[in-house]
Amino acid sequence: MAKKTIAVVGATGAQGGGLVRAILADASGEFAARALTRDVSSEKAKALAKLGVEVVAANIDEPASVRSAFEGAYGAFCVTAFWEHFSPEKEAAQARAMARAAKEAGVKHVVWSTLEDTRKWVPLTDARMPTLQGKYKVPHFDAKGEANGAFTELGVPTTFLNTSFYWDNLIHFGMGPKKGPDGKLAFVLPMGDKKLPGIAAEDIGRCALGVFKRGKEFVGRTVGVAGEQPTCGQMAAALTKALGREVRYNDVPPDVFRGFGFPGAQEIGNMFQFYRDFEADCCAARSVEVSRSLNPRLQTFDAWLAANASRIPLE
Ligand SMILES: NC(=O)c1ccc[n+]([C@@H]2O[C@H](COP(=O)([O-])OP(=O)(O)OC[C@H]3O[C@@H](n4cnc5c(N)ncnc54)[C@H](OP(=O)(O)O)[C@@H]3O)[C@@H](O)[C@H]2O)c1
Repeated sequence: MAKKTIAVVGATGAQGGGLVRAILADASGEFAARALTRDVSSEKAKALAKLGVEVVAANIDEPASVRSAFEGAYGAFCVTAFWEHFSPEKEAAQARAMARAAKEAGVKHVVWSTLEDTRKWVPLTDARMPTLQGKYKVPHFDAKGEANGAFTELGVPTTFLNTSFYWDNLIHFGMGPKKGPDGKLAFVLPMGDKKLPGIAAEDIGRCALGVFKRGKEFVGRTVGVAGEQPTCGQMAAALTKALGREVRYNDVPPDVFRGFGFPGAQEIGNMFQFYRDFEADCCAARSVEVSRSLNPRLQTFDAWLAANASRIPLE
């Protein structure tokens, strides 16, 4: 039987890349990946082509290119790259372009990588956290949650995939333990004693493949994914064990975290406060059990650390 093509936005990135690798590793051979990229000549795009993946040029800022890239595909994985531009409006426009392209191309199943619109929990009038960019609490969450409507309004058969905090942020996003003035390592987050649903970025794409495989069961549904839901104290203990050096969890108030001054500090402070203040809802929305049923290789934090702790910069 001919393989069903899944057009993968972000195929050269973390989430989409995980999906492409999961499709290639899937013994059933049910699907073939079509990788979308703005630059087919980049090293990452060429590496995908070398693995036998169909690589096509498309830019989600240019709707016609997405429409062509989705043509003939059974499925589409849609993701946006907020941290490239920090613009919720741009993210929303990109989501609309992907939804429209999927509709016009007759795609049978879209998996849209999304997050909660936090304003349903923290309205703009709620002063516990600052309003950002005029009308958001956590712009990269809110814009994605609001953009869910682009898919539903057009009647696109969609699964809304709520993702979680990548543990890879400890490597790539400067969120690993830092040496304090006393020379000791501290893991600094404004999470109190609450649980933070987290995941190995690679596992998101593997879970997305599980959603595509179970097809109709998940169309029209929201599914959240997490590898584990440790507290930050538990994460510090796991880091201590994996690194062989003491790592302390330093709980700071969200206002202090927002004042750290790195690009996006306010937004990320709001995001952690959302996870902290609405722990029960955030955890319930991201079942580890469901995630494992979609992806039997799902990693725990300890398993992720066993493979990746040596890559965490500690200075
Ligand atoms: N970090 C976290 O903890 C976390 C947790 C949950 C959700 N998220 C969300 O994850 C999203 C990013 O996903 P990721 O981590 O998989 O991305 P990533 O690794 O940063 O890679 C970005 C991908 O997006 C593609 N891309 C960017 N702009 C594009 C455009 N205009 N047209 C076509 N493709 C474009 C890039 O492809 P080319 O460069 O090849 O074109 C690349 O493959 C963000 O929106 C973020 O909010 C992050």
